[in-house]
Amino acid sequence: MFLFLILMTGTSLHAIAATDVSSNAVVCAPSSGNINAGDLNIFHSASPPAHDIREIAWLVLGICAAIFVVVEGVLIWSIIRFRKRARDAGEPVQVFGSNPVELAWTVIPTIIVFVLALATLRTIREVELTEAPAGSLNVDVIAHQWWWEYRVPNLEGNGTIVTANELVVPVGRPIWLTLHSADVIHSFWIPQLNGKTDVIPNHVNHTWFQAERAGIFLGQCAEYCGTQHANMLLRVTAVDDAAFKAWCVHQSSAVVSDPAVEQGRNMFLDLACMNCHAIDGVSEGAFGPNLTHIMSRTTIGAGVAPLNPTTLRAWVDDPQNLKVGCNMPSLELDPNQLDAIVAYLLTLK
Ligand code: CUA
Repeated sequence: MFLFLILMTGTSLHAIAATDVSSNAVVCAPSSGNINAGDLNIFHSASPPAHDIREIAWLVLGICAAIFVVVEGVLIWSIIRFRKRARDAGEPVQVFGSNPVELAWTVIPTIIVFVLALATLRTIREVELTEAPAGSLNVDVIAHQWWWEYRVPNLEGNGTIVTANELVVPVGRPIWLTLHSADVIHSFWIPQLNGKTDVIPNHVNHTWFQAERAGIFLGQCAEYCGTQHANMLLRVTAVDDAAFKAWCVHQSSAVVSDPAVEQGRNMFLDLACMNCHAIDGVSEGAFGPNLTHIMSRTTIGAGVAPLNPTTLRAWVDDPQNLKVGCNMPSLELDPNQLDAIVAYLLTLK
């Protein structure tokens, strides 16, 4: 029962968590309101596996509520009906053993457990498909401490779009996710779209969803994976086919190369940035998010803050300002280096 109460209040819990993020981030000045104030309520499902999970949640909740009402009702009735009265003298009649009662409280729970087990098995079959649904878009997901990498096949079939933390998908098309981990166990969970699926090192798992309406669907890594587990947020934007195509075209377009920021680009290559971050045609680092089109994203640090020039500068200066314990160190750049690198990154639209 408590589990369900917690799930049902998911929305407000998340709103509290997101508020904390913006107030803790001293250097961050969110201008677009609360970026992570979203709906994490499993009862507002918008995808077939999420509907299945919602249905079984209601079934379990209903059965548990009925048991609660019956047991508590009988208990209260007994307390009142058989309370000690003034005219009672000595011990009441002691009753030992009753075959009908023993039989009832053995058979009824067995039937309840049996019904719940069958319903759960059916839900598991529907949620955990063993192969991709027909017509699905195959997306590789790689979990890192503490961000998500996505590899989406390019629409033209040549090459792959590599992006981080923010996935764009077409409405109405099944999305088949292949889950990999680069380090420890994580869990992929977008409450309105699907159930939790563990993301395990050296073991491939799959999950799927199919967004039934356009909108932003938020999620959360659901397996404790270290210091910044709480800020390993998921963000899926479902759009119509035309907008998805436009997103793919943009994400596979060549990196912007602006001569005005060449100084920053050279610093990116001369300092340690290039060791961890890939920018198509510029660098090939793989430990951190691909930055080729970073400015097409809305958040930084896997959803820890909105992405804008202020937060970007704060992040490059010292990521620990926004995300304590994250794996990107401060390079202790002087203000001129910081300005040049941020100016360069801001052109990567
Ligand atoms: Cu990744 Cu928790």
